[in-house]
Amino acid sequence: MIIAIDGPAGAGKSTVAKILARRLGFLYIDTGAMYRALTLKALEEEIDPGDTAGIVKLANRVRIELKYKRLCGLNVFIDGTNVSKGIRQPNITKIVSDIAKIKGVRKVMLGLQRRMGESNNSVLEGRDIGTVVFPDAQKKFFLDARFNERVNRRYKELKVTKLKDITVNNVARDLSNRDTIDSTRKIAPLKKAKDAIYIDTTNMSVNKVVKTLLSHIKNRVDQSIGFAN
Ligand code: DC
Repeated sequence: MIIAIDGPAGAGKSTVAKILARRLGFLYIDTGAMYRALTLKALEEEIDPGDTAGIVKLANRVRIELKYKRLCGLNVFIDGTNVSKGIRQPNITKIVSDIAKIKGVRKVMLGLQRRMGESNNSVLEGRDIGTVVFPDAQKKFFLDARFNERVNRRYKELKVTKLKDITVNNVARDLSNRDTIDSTRKIAPLKKAKDAIYIDTTNMSVNKVVKTLLSHIKNRVDQSIGFAN
């Protein structure tokens, strides 16, 4: 069974998808982390984000893996190196949307994400899961929240990492840029699938969002796991 969770940054997707996957015993697939890992590798190899051919070549050459460890959660590897922390740094966040809009990059990620998702019962989160990666997913959700709330959530998350130059204004600018690039790009833009359930999480606790999603998928999961057994 595939559960697709899409939406803009800061809408609460990662937090909710992680909890949901754990509750259901499903695989958690953070597709944004995969674009971030490629971005980090491109920076390391000093490939300009504008060098589309170079980036696509890189995407075809690297090995991206997601491994779940009980205590430390999701770990992201590129060519065997754990990059889970590095991919959350602001320099990656700033340019990841430019890397993710490249056609050849999306083609590589699409294949990878489908293979991972099909290997297990999975919760996938991203921007184009319900529209492109798994258009036949059994359950689709689109999580959203008001812009200011999304900025505040990201700001609080980043504050914990004690990065000195983080300000609310910086976070708002980055988020707004990414919203624009992610939702206006030609290939697989951020968009609610017609059959996705829209949830505005602005005034909802994490617990409430998880409960709401579970209430929508409960019957489907029972059926699906019943068939699988
Ligand atoms: O969810 P995130 O902030 O970690 O995602 C990082 C970027 O990756 C996001 O700005 C757009 C891109 N992305 C995408 O284009 N398609 C996805 N399915 C997931 C993420």
